Amino acid sequence: MERHVRLFLNKLSFASIAIATLTFIFLFLQTPQTCVPPNSPSKPHLKFPKSSCDSTPRELVSIDKKNKRLWSTNDWQKKLSSFIQFFHAIRDLGLLHNHTKVICVSAGAGHEVMALSRMGVLDVTGVELVDSPPLVSRADPHNLPFFDHVFDLAFTAHLAEALFPSRFVSEMERAVRPDGVCVIVVEECGDDEVRDIVGLFMKSQFVDSINVTLTGLKMTRILMKRNS
Ligand SMILES: *[C@@H]1O[C@H](CO)[C@@H](O)[C@H](O)[C@H]1NC(C)=O
Repeated sequence: MERHVRLFLNKLSFASIAIATLTFIFLFLQTPQTCVPPNSPSKPHLKFPKSSCDSTPRELVSIDKKNKRLWSTNDWQKKLSSFIQFFHAIRDLGLLHNHTKVICVSAGAGHEVMALSRMGVLDVTGVELVDSPPLVSRADPHNLPFFDHVFDLAFTAHLAEALFPSRFVSEMERAVRPDGVCVIVVEECGDDEVRDIVGLFMKSQFVDSINVTLTGLKMTRILMKRNS
C-alpha cells in the first residue's frame, strides 16, 4: 500500500516537473507583447498613452491638424487681424519693415508672430515658456537664448505677467540692437504706471505711449528706443 502511494507521488512530481518545464519553455519562446511599438521614438516617456495598453503613438502629425483647426477659428482670426492692424500702426511710424528682425517675447499661441509674417516681415521669432510649433519656440523670457543686439525690434504684450519684470525688460533690451525698438503693450493704464514701466528700462529712452485696442481689449502701447 505504502509503496503504491510512493509510486503515485513520484509520478505526480514527474508530471509536475514536466508541466513546469514545458510552461517555462513556452514562456521563453513567446515574444512578450509589450505596449511599446518597436518604432517608438527615442523618448517614449514623453508620450502619454490614454491607457497602459494604448500603443497608438500620438503622432506629431496631429499638430498640423490641431493648428489648422485652431487657426481657422473665429477667435484666432479676429485676434490675428487685430494684431495686423496694431503692427500696421508700428509700420506707419517707420519702425517696421519687411527686413526688420523681430522678436515676440511671451508670444503665447503666436498670434503676433503670424500677424507679422502675414504682413511680409521675413524674420520673426516667437518665444514662450511653452512652445507652440511652428510659430513659437520654447524659451524663458528671463533668459533669452540669443546673443546681444541680434534683433531690430522686440515686442511683448505680456510684461505684466512676468515673474521678474526688470529681468524680463533687461533681456529684451539686451536682445535688441542699439537704436532698436522695444514695443510693450499692457492693460490700459495711466501716466504713473507708464512711468513705472519706463523706469524698468535701463538702456532705452521713452518715445511715446498711446492707448490702443488690441484683441478687443483696451491697452496702452509704450514705445522705447534703445540707446545707441
Ligand atoms: C513686404 O512684403 C509684403 C508681403 O510679401 C509685400 O506685399 C510688400 O510689397 C513688401 N514690402 C516691401 C516694401 O517690400
